[in-house]
Amino acid sequence: MSNPSLDDQIETVVEKLLSAKSVVVFTGAGVSAESGVPTFRDKGGMWTKFKPEELANFDAFMKNPDLVTGWYSHRRKIMSEVKPNPGHYAVAELEKVFDDFCVITQNVDNLHRRAGSKKIFELHGNIERNYCITCKKNHDLTGNYSPQAIKCECGGLVRPDVVWFGEILPQDQYAGAVAAAESCDVFFSVGTSAVVYPAAYMIIYAKQAGAFVVEVNVDYTDLSHYANQTLLGNSGEILPRIVRKIKR
Ligand code: OAD
Repeated sequence: MSNPSLDDQIETVVEKLLSAKSVVVFTGAGVSAESGVPTFRDKGGMWTKFKPEELANFDAFMKNPDLVTGWYSHRRKIMSEVKPNPGHYAVAELEKVFDDFCVITQNVDNLHRRAGSKKIFELHGNIERNYCITCKKNHDLTGNYSPQAIKCECGGLVRPDVVWFGEILPQDQYAGAVAAAESCDVFFSVGTSAVVYPAAYMIIYAKQAGAFVVEVNVDYTDLSHYANQTLLGNSGEILPRIVRKIKR
């Protein structure tokens, strides 16, 4: 027997969705790739050009605040200039179909919210939020893409509200995400290499709790064996196809 076509695989997922009450979409950098936001580990991805330990940890920030601030300013500028893609919009459409629905994202780019998603757990923070490491005051840096360190009025350094290597995830976001992953009927893992923990545990928790796990990725990942169905292709093409079918 020949392997099922992508159409058949999508039909299987659609059938599962039609009887599902609770749906979770877990996303990584791949969902924003078609918007023009670079991923981390693909060919040419950010961690193939830069060293995470020099840019995405607190000690690096304290040692060279200009370098780290400049890098985040650069990324914040890219993210402010791009737009959500059909994958983000499809996720937002799904939320309108299911009463019990949420997005769990590792992305800091705010594109799910900009596409209209409402219930979002941000496991790695949000690059649009920034705060002073001394007095904790929030700073709105819209339009401020300083290549140098930014100082608060109190003299403290302003940092992005993102999770750096070695830091713990925001506990409210993590707890909410785990609860959702463990109680959903269908769990999508979209555009993530599934190698960064604890975020990648979401896939395992969902599977162990009995969810039907669907992976959407241009390639197989370390956790593909947890997926009941892997849909190979661009999320900006596959997710809208699924949404069109469940709304027919
Ligand atoms: P990665 O760069 O590790 O993985 C991106 C995944 O997206 C890969 O599996 C690609 O195959 C897939 N991909 C690329 N383009 C795609 C497309 N158009 N449609 C579908 N899939 C596509 O990014 P993440 O898994 O998000 O952490 O990385 C996880 C974490 O590592 C990030 O949140 C970040 C990073 O260090 C922090 O900053 C704390």
